Amino acid sequence: MNIFCQYSILNTFINPSSTTGLVPTMGALHEGHVSLIKKAICENQQVIVTIFINPTQFENFDDLKKYPKTLEADVKIIESISKKILIYTPDTDDLYSKEIKSLSYNFGPIEGVMEGEIRKNHFQGVATIVEKLLNIFMPENAYFGEKDFQQLQIIRLLVAQKKISSNIIGCSTFRNKDGLALSSRNSFLTNSEREKASFIHQQLLVARSLWGIENPKTISEKIKKSFSVNRNFKLDYFDIRFEVDLSRATKKSKKKVRAFVAAKIGKTRLIDNLALYEI
Ligand code: PAJ
Repeated sequence: MNIFCQYSILNTFINPSSTTGLVPTMGALHEGHVSLIKKAICENQQVIVTIFINPTQFENFDDLKKYPKTLEADVKIIESISKKILIYTPDTDDLYSKEIKSLSYNFGPIEGVMEGEIRKNHFQGVATIVEKLLNIFMPENAYFGEKDFQQLQIIRLLVAQKKISSNIIGCSTFRNKDGLALSSRNSFLTNSEREKASFIHQQLLVARSLWGIENPKTISEKIKKSFSVNRNFKLDYFDIRFEVDLSRATKKSKKKVRAFVAAKIGKTRLIDNLALYEI
């Protein structure tokens, strides 16, 4: 089995003359993660999947403790894709040798909105662990989902700021048949919540159908109203923003824009987003 708790040992199994693809995860793997791993396999000669629940990106200890841990099932999923994949499942001290603390980054306004506004320091923690992983494994390609689009853009900025040579590959969001984006948090939903949760994607589709016809403010008001009359949800935000810097789109534009949503259903908070332009 290719499972390693220490990167220093895993690194001895990496062939330096082969291209490497890195897929960082926090485990509780689902089809969304699988789609990233399969893309990495297609585009690289060797693939490393990391499974590490990064403590510095959680706001509080309770969320960290509650995060689903399914290591055995995760390993089976990865091995069913390919037995050649190198799996890195470290303890905290292999990555945080001194203090379990985020480094400090300045990502500017892109970090201050949406998830960054609600989950203070979250992206500092994400950047810390992603920078460590990229520096340790120095992959040609590293794979991240558009499901967490703000995270993807911050990682692109991180790589530019730190002059890291890895290509950051954005991968499209994997959805259930009813449109619900797969997420490790979906395991917290009851069956009835799971059925209702597709409402989020439906609203994103409504936004897309109105894009180019109505201005962003009117679209946002319509979607917010739909959420307010649906008692199953508590909306955190619905925003239409430019992809490049995540600034709010205030009028119709030919630039690439996305609709972003975060909403609570019962006790579970879900996020999603959709490109409003033709892909
Ligand atoms: P995690 O939530 O485990 O997600 C790992 C990767 O899978 C991320 O790049 C995420 O965007 C992607 N992903 C999740 N759901 C997806 C879906 N339905 N379709 C496509 N991709 C999906 O995101 C993290 O972990 C962490 O923040 C991490 C980057 C590993 C740093 O700790």
